[in-house]
Amino acid sequence: MYPKIKEPAFAEDVLYGLKLTPKQLLSKYFYDSLGSELFAKIMRMPEYYLTDCELEIFEQSAAEITTAFNTGKAGFELIELGAGDGLKTKVLLEYLVNQNTDFKYVPIDISEKAVKGLQQDLKRKMPGLQLDGRVGDYFELLAGINNSKRKIVLFLGSNIGNFSEHMAIEFLRKLQGVLQPRDQLLIGFDLKKDANTVLLAYNDPHGYTAAFNLNLLSRINRELDADFQLDNFYHKETYDPKSGLAKSFLISKKAQEINLRKLNERIVFDKEESIFMERSQKYDLSMIETLAQKTGFKQQKYFFDQRKWFVNALWAVDK
Ligand code: TRP
Repeated sequence: MYPKIKEPAFAEDVLYGLKLTPKQLLSKYFYDSLGSELFAKIMRMPEYYLTDCELEIFEQSAAEITTAFNTGKAGFELIELGAGDGLKTKVLLEYLVNQNTDFKYVPIDISEKAVKGLQQDLKRKMPGLQLDGRVGDYFELLAGINNSKRKIVLFLGSNIGNFSEHMAIEFLRKLQGVLQPRDQLLIGFDLKKDANTVLLAYNDPHGYTAAFNLNLLSRINRELDADFQLDNFYHKETYDPKSGLAKSFLISKKAQEINLRKLNERIVFDKEESIFMERSQKYDLSMIETLAQKTGFKQQKYFFDQRKWFVNALWAVDK
């Protein structure tokens, strides 16, 4: 029903990460069905300013953004990588549909539940919209992109900041490689700002971010028959305002051993030993322009929110 490219190598990735020093887990595995629900809650909490900023940008600048899309009258595909529940994109979609624009929306997400939910919601709200949702991880799905139609790719929410610098470059180069000179990328970047604002967004008082991180341990318990006790770990966020790097950790409250029974493996934790869960890079404009240059894109236009906390950058393919 929803084309799935390939089952990810969950067991191997988890075991590999837990045997590294320092330990780490891959954040793409956060998004099982509970994970996607918790993530939707994170996006909607007031402390998580990124959503409000990006919504504001779409609400204020939908006309300007779509004019800058350069599509003229020709039809195009609007491909969104990591669409989630499409909260912000809906504003743009509504604008395009109201303008009678000829386009097809292709939301892609690692969570099947997110794609299903989004498709149902969009069918109800915008019956005229052409829609073709896909489930899978970005790299797998990029390989399947067909080149016959002009494309606008959306990569929002500062999701690029969740990649390491090296992976971000590799990913954007791959993306550039499957695009044509006429195509464009609208990419969201969270901008560098004071540490307290950032920490509050990732260290929220509701505990959703902690629950979101801990949920990956539950998933490991379920899928690998492991025995993580969630209350033996706590969530910790750090942010360095100079480099713009925010990092998320789970920390072991005590010395303990975890059995991954399905794999017949045992993982030992010292007291206060951490698992590195995710990074969220914050950018300045020179970092953004360097990234475009290094990956074969050309910076065309910036769309900011009023506080200039966030930017959606429109990039052209430079080849
Ligand atoms: N890319 C966004 C960010 O870095 C969304 C996100 C990904 C996120 N993983 C997260 C937000 C974990 C909170 C916690 O902010």
